[in-house]
Formats: sequence, structure tokens, C-alpha cells
Amino acid sequence: MMLIAQISDIHITRGGLPAYGIADTLSSLQEVIGELNRLDPTPEAVIISGDISDDGSPESYAIVGQLLTELNMPFYLTPGNHDQKQNLANAFADHDYLATALEQSGGDAICYTVDTYPVRLIGLDTVITGEHGGGLNENRLDWLDKTLSQNPSKPTLIFMHHLPCVSSIVGMDTEPFVNSAAFARLIARHDQIQRITCGHLHRPIASQFGSTVLTVSPGVGMQLNLDLRTHVAAGFIMEPTAFLLHHWLADWDGELRLLTHTHTIQGSDYRWGAPHRFTDVVSPS
Ligand SMILES: [Fe+2]
Repeated sequence: MMLIAQISDIHITRGGLPAYGIADTLSSLQEVIGELNRLDPTPEAVIISGDISDDGSPESYAIVGQLLTELNMPFYLTPGNHDQKQNLANAFADHDYLATALEQSGGDAICYTVDTYPVRLIGLDTVITGEHGGGLNENRLDWLDKTLSQNPSKPTLIFMHHLPCVSSIVGMDTEPFVNSAAFARLIARHDQIQRITCGHLHRPIASQFGSTVLTVSPGVGMQLNLDLRTHVAAGFIMEPTAFLLHHWLADWDGELRLLTHTHTIQGSDYRWGAPHRFTDVVSPS
């Protein structure tokens, strides 16, 4: 059994100022860290699926790095399009997989595995430097194919920043994920993959992809406005911050499965009250 929390799109700015002049991302991260530490049972690990910084500056990483030291559990980072990979690796020097992956890829990508848990974690870098949209070049696809082939029987979760398919929120669908079809075919060849989970959209979404399930985490810093009209540009909205909890557990018949909860938080000093009891829950005769 394993509980994995996923937080995404923190968007801490240089100086800790509100992102886009509006979103108090510093307070949102503090709320999320507090809630993660209060969870019972405690997640074994936290995966962070990119846009850790808003501007990629060393100053922003120093702030977020200091705050994340308060987490009671290990965490693993993957970059988003707002991140500067070398600054990220420099700021989190104790996460030596960052610098190692960058060095081994000639500065291209931060791709790595974590093999110490019941679910194998693969951090997959989908960032194309200088671009807002993402994708996977041939080198990264080859790395993933080899990595999956090395451990074909272990349940595996891939976490990455960009959604590899359309979101139906038109303003976010103008930049196709590079090599999306090749990525889907690769995923379909490896049936140990329980999940691909992303960020970037700042909104919880679920879909099928390749032969597996794909989820998207809400943002820590702000949420994407849900507007499915085709002529409306994408914008953000200050809905409550939220994160995902991926739970690897046995079904009634002993079959293991990975299921996902969305956990919404509204203010560090605001609780939604004790749970209320349902009554009259059986089907009426
Ligand atoms: Fe983001």
C-alpha cells in the first residue's frame, strides 16, 4: 500500500510577491504544506509536477526550498515551463537526481526514477526550453522506453508537467504536445504503467491515454477557469487551492489499484466543520 500526494504549479515569484499581481502563491504553498503534514495517514512521498517557480529565478527557488523543508515526508521535483532547470538543480542540491539527470542528458532534461517504494515513480521532463507547450524528443522517449523495459513488472506512476492530449479548454490546446502519438504508443507497450499524472492545466482533469489513465492536478498557486466555449481565452481564477492523493491499495478481491482523490483546501484557519452524517442511505422499497 502507498499514499502519494501530488502538488503542482506552485508559481512562487522572486520576492514572494503575488503572481500576476493577484495570486498569493506563497500563502497557498504554506496552506498546502500544513495540510500535507496534518494528513492521517501520512503520504509516503510528495511528487511536485512543475512550475515550482513562476519566474525561474534563484531567489524564487530559495523561498520555495525553505518552505518545503517543513514537509514531513520526502518530495520529488520535476520541472515545468516556468522553471529554469539549472537554477532548480542548483537550489535543490540535496536532490542530487536533478543535477545528475541534467548532466547525463547534456543539459536537456531531468528524467529519473525512484525505485524505493511499492509504486515505481518516474519523473519525466516534458519541458522544451523557451516554449510554453511541452513534448518529448527522441532522446527522452528512448530513455523512457529503456527505463520501463528494465522493470516491466513493477507498478509504475509517471509524473510530468504537460498534458500530452487536448484538455477541451481551448486556450490551453493551441500548442500540441510534441510526439504525443509516439508517446501514447510507447505507453501502450508497457502494461505496468498504472498512471500518468501531470500539472500545467491548474485544474483536475481525467482522461484515458495510451493504455492507461491520465490525471491532471489542480494548481497550488491558482486554478484555470473552467470555460469550454471555443472563442474564450484561458484565464485563471482564485478557486481554493487543492492537490491530489494517489492511493495504491487492494480491492475487495485483493487486486491492487491506484485511485485518486482531489483534496481542496480553503484557508489555513478555515475548516469546513466536522463531517456530517448521511441518513436514510438504503434504496427505498
Ligand atoms: Fe503553471
